[in-house]
Amino acid sequence: ERMKVVVTRNLGPDVMPLLQERKELDLVVWPEDRPCEREWFLQNVPGATGVIVMLSDKVNQELYEAAGPTLKIVSTMSVGYEHIDLQGAAQRNIRVGYTPDVLTDAVADISIMLALMAGRNVRETTELVARGDWPNTAWAPYGFVGPQLSANWVHPTRTAGFLGFGRISKATLARLVPFGFTDCVYTSNPSSTPNPAADAETARTYGLRSVRRVGLPELAAQSDVVFVLAPGGAATHHVVDAAFLRGMKSTAVLVNTARGTLVDSDALATALRERWIWGAGVDVVEGEPHVGREHPLVREPRCVVLPHIASATIETRLGMATTAAKNLLGALFGEAMPAEVQM
Ligand code: GLV
Ligand code: GLV
Repeated sequence: ERMKVVVTRNLGPDVMPLLQERKELDLVVWPEDRPCEREWFLQNVPGATGVIVMLSDKVNQELYEAAGPTLKIVSTMSVGYEHIDLQGAAQRNIRVGYTPDVLTDAVADISIMLALMAGRNVRETTELVARGDWPNTAWAPYGFVGPQLSANWVHPTRTAGFLGFGRISKATLARLVPFGFTDCVYTSNPSSTPNPAADAETARTYGLRSVRRVGLPELAAQSDVVFVLAPGGAATHHVVDAAFLRGMKSTAVLVNTARGTLVDSDALATALRERWIWGAGVDVVEGEPHVGREHPLVREPRCVVLPHIASATIETRLGMATTAAKNLLGALFGEAMPAEVQM
């Protein structure tokens, strides 16, 4: 029996053969090198057994209805899945695959990079050099100084803060250990049970003085750097708001490598302009990809803005595409799915 599979973005010459070699599959692949048009998706999805999607594709009631009862698997090439209506999938017995783990290190790497860039005035200074204005103030004794991320003679203790404490947060924390970080505070989904024994174990694992689950006000107040690494969606909408930012240290930096919706962009721009905090580094912005030069964060010299590239390493994207293909094949051919969303 033939099965139609719609793929909303070409997964490249190393991964497409995994799908092409399955002769039972009729592959329909969006042919262009830009996000798939909604109309194309809706026109091609009827009768599909599986779809491979990107996070720019909304998988909602409209799509389920267009697909019809044949649809068995939605496989997204992303770790986040707030673009997928899970309840709708569960009601229709559609399985959902995603790509955790393989991107953890790439995102942790770039989170550290953004923390350093935001603290050390990298955007302002590289823009000067790019314009040909090598600054004669650079070697003024205090020219372009910023707060030091690593522990130092003035600040022998450093506290990392994590909004959300999953795989990527822990990988980021591991990278901060050689920077001399001594303490960690984090917030978790309020419906999960606090586990002080696990926190003590995490502290031992990383050789830290303390790892503590706290509330948002304490996270803001204690952290030298706050990493936003929680899932997006309604439950975390604008958790970083004006009150949170006002509660942060004026020398602290904010890093968002999760979803733009967690941070109120206007409040963050105000916090940077009025120096409530030192700087920010964001890989994601609410409303992306519609983020122009007039966006308040793009205009703010103390905000480093990346266009959602935290997982964009050669190795990681290959791993994500492979996982997305294998999740689809697993669901269609009764093989194991490497990573299935539990519903
Ligand atoms: C990237 O944002 C992802 O969800 O993989
Ligand atoms: C830095 O270049 C120094 O010489 O201190």
